[in-house]
Amino acid sequence: MAVERTLSIIKPDAVEKNHIGAVLALIEAAGLEIKAMRMVHLSRPQAEGFYAVHRERPFFGELVEFMTRGPVVISCLEGEGAIAKYRGVMGATDPAKAEDGTIRKLYGSNIGENACHGSDAPETAAFEVGYFFPGYELG
Ligand code: CMP
Repeated sequence: MAVERTLSIIKPDAVEKNHIGAVLALIEAAGLEIKAMRMVHLSRPQAEGFYAVHRERPFFGELVEFMTRGPVVISCLEGEGAIAKYRGVMGATDPAKAEDGTIRKLYGSNIGENACHGSDAPETAAFEVGYFFPGYELG
């Protein structure tokens, strides 16, 4: 399997509840390597640009409001099959449907406040990693 990079965001709900360390521990326990990391309070334009693909969705306003309400922890993860692997670590988008032991099951509240984001495909991973980490910041 190919070595991939994927983007992770620990969302404001999980940061507010002091779950940064617990989420990072699950990421590392899965064998994913953290290649770069930033803690940022996203501006509205930053959040809107990141989620531009969802601009027409009915929940877009709510999503941007939530993602800008407090700091997030953004990281670039690397490993074999990292995109699918991290999606497995996160669990289903809706925490109520996520498997036991996943980040969203443990720390998510509902489909909007679901503790974390991860890229869903190689194309989106390339866009998302580049959005927050210009190449020179990556080892
Ligand atoms: P994320 O992986 O960050 O990608 C887009 C986000 O939109 C998703 O996680 C959810 O948090 C959010 N989302 C998806 N569906 C809904 C919904 N029905 N209501 C509110 N937020 C949603």
